[in-house]
Amino acid sequence: MPRQILGFVNAEAVAEYSASEFLRRGRTALAERGVFRVALAGGSTPRRTYEMLAEPALARQLDWPGVEVFFGDERSVPPDDQQSNYRSAHEALLSRVNVRDSAIHRMEGEHLDLSQAAADYQATLARSFGTEPGARPPRFDLIMLGMGPDGHTASLFPKTRALGERQAWVVANDVPQLQTRRMTMTAPVLNAARCVMFSVAGADKADRLAEVLEGPRDVERLPSQLIAPADGDLLWLVDSAAAARLTSKPPAPSN
Ligand code: 6PG
Repeated sequence: MPRQILGFVNAEAVAEYSASEFLRRGRTALAERGVFRVALAGGSTPRRTYEMLAEPALARQLDWPGVEVFFGDERSVPPDDQQSNYRSAHEALLSRVNVRDSAIHRMEGEHLDLSQAAADYQATLARSFGTEPGARPPRFDLIMLGMGPDGHTASLFPKTRALGERQAWVVANDVPQLQTRRMTMTAPVLNAARCVMFSVAGADKADRLAEVLEGPRDVERLPSQLIAPADGDLLWLVDSAAAARLTSKPPAPSN
């Protein structure tokens, strides 16, 4: 499937669809390979998806003990910090479903040596996927992403070093514009996935979304343009406010 852009009335509808896609991809992965490996995103739009997935009516549609949970990026904070992506996903979803504790792989954002923590996370990925660092990047069943108003995704921020990473799967990334460091998966892993699903909502994203999807390629300024799975699906779920500057209105999903 080439890139698919789907339109929704609002953020709530984006979250609803992304929850149903999560379940669809999860069930397919479990049926075909006996395990569903998913990488979660930070940010507000995915969080609503997590809350929905935790609702009993949806939660019971997935065999959670077969799910392996990873993170696409993390802030440099301890896991109980308000800003932690792990904390957000844990509160909204992971503490409320039957996922195994040993199947939750968080990034250690609190580590004093974030580069070491990134290398450790890469080793965790290799172990979980039965491969080794340096081999072909792991192939996630689903990677969830958001996009910031500056065009960043995961913690691949404009004009930062991690954008050029072609070897490592996970790196520490200095983000001078936020005066911080982050840990992030890199393009080689993101683009090896079976499916990458962006959830984007809000008028503050409209200008950048049009540039990312319809403008000339400029990945240093628009890191989200880096995401193009080599042999996988790329889904953009966008609400009408975020889609306002696109040349044509994205279609609603057909099912
Ligand atoms: C993070 C992210 C980041 C996020 C976008 C969109 O840790 O901040 O993973 O890439 O997904 O900033 O966030 P919103 O959905 O809150 O706008």
